[in-house]
Amino acid sequence: MERSSFGTAPGGQPVDVYTLTNRQGMEARVTNYGGIILSLRVPDRDGRFDDVVLGYDALADYVAESPYFGALVGRYGNRIARGRFTLDGRQYTLATNNGVNHLHGGLKGFDKVVWTAAPFENDQGMGLVLTYVSPDGEEGYPGTLTARVTYTLTADNALVFDYHATTDRPTPVNLTQHSYFNLAGDGQRDILGHVVTFNADRFVPIDATSIPLGPLRDVTGTPFDFRRPTAIGARIQQDDEQLRNGLGYDHSLVLDKGGQPGALTLAAHVLEPTTGRVMEVHTTEPGMQFYSGNFLDGTLKGKRGAVYHHRFGFALETQHLPDSPNQPAFPSTLLRPGEEYRSRTLYRFSVSGA
Ligand code: BGC
Repeated sequence: MERSSFGTAPGGQPVDVYTLTNRQGMEARVTNYGGIILSLRVPDRDGRFDDVVLGYDALADYVAESPYFGALVGRYGNRIARGRFTLDGRQYTLATNNGVNHLHGGLKGFDKVVWTAAPFENDQGMGLVLTYVSPDGEEGYPGTLTARVTYTLTADNALVFDYHATTDRPTPVNLTQHSYFNLAGDGQRDILGHVVTFNADRFVPIDATSIPLGPLRDVTGTPFDFRRPTAIGARIQQDDEQLRNGLGYDHSLVLDKGGQPGALTLAAHVLEPTTGRVMEVHTTEPGMQFYSGNFLDGTLKGKRGAVYHHRFGFALETQHLPDSPNQPAFPSTLLRPGEEYRSRTLYRFSVSGA
């Protein structure tokens, strides 16, 4: 595996880039700053390789301002209302970095720390084990959390994420990956023509600050019904309270696990019709945040001079549901000492049609 320098993090630690490849020519470049996937080159139906994720060329750009391009998100992916929760009778206050709410781990989440990286090659493929020990009290979270995330590029064009964590005090944990995809390649146009299918009968309705309203909602008859292949853009302009609250799609879908919590199941199938590229998402998680890149507005200049305009990328963040520490009806995100947090997600790439 090739390793090269990616510069120096604000704390002075050296940061590297690791290039994962497989025999089919797929290539993922990953840095141990924030576990960020810098680029992901996959073939189209004519065998042409393009980079299908958004991001920057230089470390300094990620440090200066990034909407979590490619990043590993933690300690809690998604929002916690007002950055507050009660655990075992005690109230905790987290850093608030999204209006009054806590988002994606706070001011300095796992996307902005330097992970220890150990490259490996085995019969599954080639990959990196990323380790980070989050101190007790970091961003307000209780307990020392030891997180280990393994990225593997397999021979059959899948990128696999295995998450593991342990703690010495009870804490919420919800790790995810925040890559922005544009399967047309190189982030050159909007993602509205991508045809998606989601294995979700219900979604989490949100208020105007993106906090869950409470009861889950049936997708039937709403613009959130993607149970049959539908273009992302087909209904995004509809006059719908939920689309208004999210400024488009920015919602958690509740995945149909077929009665088997924790089983690896197909969550999403995405087809980009002009290139034939297909991405499947499989996960053990109960939910998936579907974000249609609503906050991209052309101000961020990306790789090779690309300008990321409105909805030029989308994210499918597998995770537990938002604000779970304050939502007793949602699956629990609580990790206690002696327990192991385990989660697996994979993105598999292929092509469709001739
Ligand atoms: C959130 C969006 C947020 C984006 C970038 C997504 O996971 O749901 O609301 O703007 O991340 O920060």
